[in-house]
Amino acid sequence: VTPQDLAGLDVLVTAGPTREPLDPVRYLSNRSSGKMGYALAKAAALRGARVTLISGPTALVSPPGVEIIQVQTAEQMFQEVIKRAEKTQIIIKAAAVADYRPLDAKEQKIKKQGQEMNIEFTQNRDILAELGRQKGAHQLLVGFAAETNDLVQNAIGKLKRKNVDLLVANDVTQPGAGFDYDTNIVRIFDQNGELTSLPRLDKQQVAWEILNIVVKMFNPLRGN
Ligand code: PMT
Repeated sequence: VTPQDLAGLDVLVTAGPTREPLDPVRYLSNRSSGKMGYALAKAAALRGARVTLISGPTALVSPPGVEIIQVQTAEQMFQEVIKRAEKTQIIIKAAAVADYRPLDAKEQKIKKQGQEMNIEFTQNRDILAELGRQKGAHQLLVGFAAETNDLVQNAIGKLKRKNVDLLVANDVTQPGAGFDYDTNIVRIFDQNGELTSLPRLDKQQVAWEILNIVVKMFNPLRGN
């Protein structure tokens, strides 16, 4: 039987890429398929949580029993997450949010120009960092880090800077890890250092392992 160890809790998961428009027909995005975040939402719902999944564009179907909110841009994701954050006990940010958006999205299709074209970008607000600033004593915040180099150093940097409780790092250059694969290879850190390093597992199993740690960390917060 599935443990109902998240029963009574509100869990918010973000998944997928964001799309940052350049003009009405073009956008900047990334390779996230949403599989990691959807696996987390599904696992949390199976374990009894009330789950809200805030998703960028993906080809996936919403897991059963999960409330899904579809967004396109990082700014839309920011707004949908922040307005629900306060009443949520556990927030898991698996989405691959664009750090930058085109400064000036054109209202009309950009015409072919000279040999070179420059596009100016401006920074998007960091959703995870904002959640870290607002975090209440009753909340557990889980971030991800997609790295191509210096994984441990970068992961710990993100954990501290963004004030997250748990950070799940994946080296997205490893075959079978990160974007679009059905599997992932992750290392999980808390404020004291590395908790575990998992072998290549199906994303559903990775989600299950992450939630095992979440439950262990969250129980003291709710007095269990
Ligand atoms: O979707 P899949 O194909 O299954 O792939 C899974 C995955 C590789 C996308 C996933 O495992 C993963 O690593 N997700 C985080 C990707 C990412 O954007 O990492 P980052 O290191 O750039 O960002 C660090 C954290 O800050 C992330 O939790 C991210 O959601 C968050 N962030 C980043 C920028 C921003 N403006 N707002 C944010 O909240």
